[in-house]
Order: sequence, then C-alpha cells, then structure tokens
Amino acid sequence: MERIIIKGGNRLKGTIKVSGAKNAVLPILGASLLCGSESVIYNVPRLQDVEVMVELLAYLGARICREDHQLRIDTTRVEPREIGEDLMRRMRASNLVLGPLLGRFGSLVISQPGGCNIGSRPMDLHLRGIRALGAAIDEKAGYIRARAAGLTGADIHLDVPSVGATENIMMAASVARGTTILRNAAREPEIVDLQNYLNGMGARISGAGTDVIRIRGVDALHSCRYSVIPDRIEAGTYLVAAAITRGDVTVQNVIPEHVEPVLAKLREAGAELEIAGEAVRIHCSGRLKAVNVKTMPYPGFPTDMQPQIMALLSLAEGTSTVTENIFENRFKHVPELQRLGADIRIEGNTAIIKGRGALSGASVEASDLRAGAALVLAGLAAENTTVVEQPQHIDRGYERLEEKCQILGADITRVRV
Ligand code: UD1
Repeated sequence: MERIIIKGGNRLKGTIKVSGAKNAVLPILGASLLCGSESVIYNVPRLQDVEVMVELLAYLGARICREDHQLRIDTTRVEPREIGEDLMRRMRASNLVLGPLLGRFGSLVISQPGGCNIGSRPMDLHLRGIRALGAAIDEKAGYIRARAAGLTGADIHLDVPSVGATENIMMAASVARGTTILRNAAREPEIVDLQNYLNGMGARISGAGTDVIRIRGVDALHSCRYSVIPDRIEAGTYLVAAAITRGDVTVQNVIPEHVEPVLAKLREAGAELEIAGEAVRIHCSGRLKAVNVKTMPYPGFPTDMQPQIMALLSLAEGTSTVTENIFENRFKHVPELQRLGADIRIEGNTAIIKGRGALSGASVEASDLRAGAALVLAGLAAENTTVVEQPQHIDRGYERLEEKCQILGADITRVRV
C-alpha cells in the first residue's frame, strides 16, 4: 500500500509539460486492432489505464513493444478471444475493443464492463449503435456476445452524446459497407484525435468535433504512425494547482482551445492567464472569487475537472455552486474535502460551496481518479500535512504527479506502508 504525503502552503512556481491524453490514447489503442500489422503510437502517457489496455491487447494476441513514450503494436496475430471479467472490470474503457473487434472479426464475447465509482455507466448506446450496423447482440449472464456477417452503414442518433459510444460506432462503421451518419455525436477533442488516427489508417471519416459524423466504410484499414494529443484534463489540473496555491505556473504542451472551458472559469474567478502558442501561464496574486460551474459535454465544462475546481472553490471568496450533469454519483470527494475543512452542502446534483479562508491538513482517501487529484490539490493549499490514501487511483490518469508537483516547488512525497 502507498500513500501521498503533502506539506501544504508552498506557492507553485515554474514550468511543467503535459503528457499525452489518456482519453485519446485508449480508443486509439483499441482502434489499432482494426488492422493486421504494426502501428507506432507516439506521445503515449505512462499511466495505469494505458497498461491495462496494453495487457488487453496482448491477451488478444498483439505484440507490444514500449520505448519510453512510444508504443509499437503488432496486431497480425490478434484473435477475437473471449474477454472475461478480470480484464473488462479493471477499467471502464476496456469497452473500447467492442467496435474494433466487431469491425475486424465480425464476432466477440466480452464481459460487461460494469459500473464504476462515479456512476452506473450503462452500455445501451454502444450496443444500440452496433445493432444498427447489423450486429446481432445477446446479453446474458454478465456477458455481451455480438456477431455480424458484415456490417452495413446506418443512420444513428445517440440519445446523449456519449464519448465511448461515439468512438465504438466510429471504429466499427469505418469498415462497414456503405456510409454511417452519426448524429448527436460527442464533440470532445479526443473524438477528433480518433478520427485523425483512423483516417491515417485509411478510413474516410469527417465531421468529428461537430455533432454529426460521417463515416464512409472502406474494405480494410492499414497501420500507421500517430502522435497523441496533449491531455487537456492534466493541463487543467496543473492550472488549478497553480491557482489554489496562488502561484505562477506555465503549463506547456497544451492545445489552449481544448482547455478553454476551464480557462474561462479560472478567468472569471480572477486568475490571470496568458496564452502563447502551446503554453498557458497562470498567475494569481490574491484570493479567487466564487463562481458557478455546470458540467456539460464538450465544449462545456468537463466533468473530469469537476472535483478539482471544487477543491479550488472551497478556498474562494463567496459562495459557489457546482452542478454535475454527466454522472449521477460524482461527489465522493465532498466528504473528503469536508475533512480538510471545506464548507460544502449537497442538494441533488448541485454542491453549494462556501469558500473558507483556509483548509487544514488531514488524512483523506481517493475514491477515484479525479477525486484523488482534487484531494492532492486541496492538500497543496491546506495548512499542515495532508495524507492521501489509495493513490493508485491517481496513477490511472496522471503521469509522475508527485514529480511534476515537486518541479513546481510542492512538498509532496509518496511512501510505501
Ligand atoms: C468518457 C471519458 C471519461 C469522461 C466521460 C464524460 C474516456 C476513456 N473516458 O467516458 O473520462 O468522464 O467520457 O466526459 O474517454 N451513457 C449512457 N449509455 C451509454 C453510454 C453512456 O446512458 O451507452 C451515459 C453515461 O451514463 C453518462 C453519459 O452518458 O451519464 C456520458 O458518458 P460517456 O460520454 O459515455 O462516458 P465514457 O465514454 O464512459
């Protein structure tokens, strides 16, 4: 077991570089299954979720070679083996093999990925989309079995713009006969990255980044070399780390447009921001002001930044509200922030936060990835020592978090217990 120990109060100062995007690389690794040759992916972050996806691909027969932030994936010998609970339940994003396996092999058997700490996260939209492409699907005893004698393009309307369903449908439809029109599609930057990767493999997809995506099916895809976009959530987390400690930090390797929903709230709260090319500098001299935040699909404020901004608002001047519109159970960080002295009340899907002058260190537990990040941020600003238990959740999505915080002057270490 490990824990993170933070002696709060240091103002973060300096420059850090953001890693490749977790939520872009996971579908890209899934999509590499669509061809039967060697792909090379660059700017791959070193994260626990990426390790799980690599394990999953290896289980299916892929040969994978990692050199630093580069992955070579040879999918020549991949077979559509049944994927059991052990691999499917370790990470929700394992479901991203659904579209590729069906597209390449026309059949698959996978365990239901199940819920997770932030909500029930059903698969109905993924399966409805795949069904519309002509697959027969059977859900029994916790398993999904799908079979298709060739997929056919279809007109599909998503009830909600699910990121994962959009990705699975894009991947399966890229090798279907005819054209698929996907409406009310997710518009996240990671969808655009997947489109660019698939097109690099020979797919004919357009419209990603808007809510209508057109996928003209091709006979087969080939491998390619591709570099993953920077992680907008990691970037946002370090910007908030700077803000919460009233520091002065430059975050490099950012696509500023991708973090604009977060920048807008930081600006509104009184932070000073400067954008120069692929770098964003933030500096905050005084206490930030309360703001209201509502999570929405992109380009709205990301749910994956909700816990972190709540940590910041617990120290802002005035009363803020944070409304979670994407996941029904994403306030598990609230009791932990309260342990640090935050004044937060929950009413339905809204948290009402009365900003305090200071937080005070305590022992808290990370329940999931972004909740864990929020607790680290709160600990960086809190008086005395904060201990964050269960930091393995944080390793799912942050590469060398403590090291990057140390570079910025934080007093943070990880110990084995
Ligand atoms: C992705 C991200 C995750 C982020 C989330 C929302 C990856 C690997 N993960 O997750 O970090 O928090 O987008 O931005 O990219 N839904 C259904 N039926 C479905 C699918 C989804 O009702 O079949 C609902 C979900 O319960 C949720 C909403 O749609 O309320 C959005 O979920 P979705 O966009 O699918 O999230 P993920 O792709 O799982």
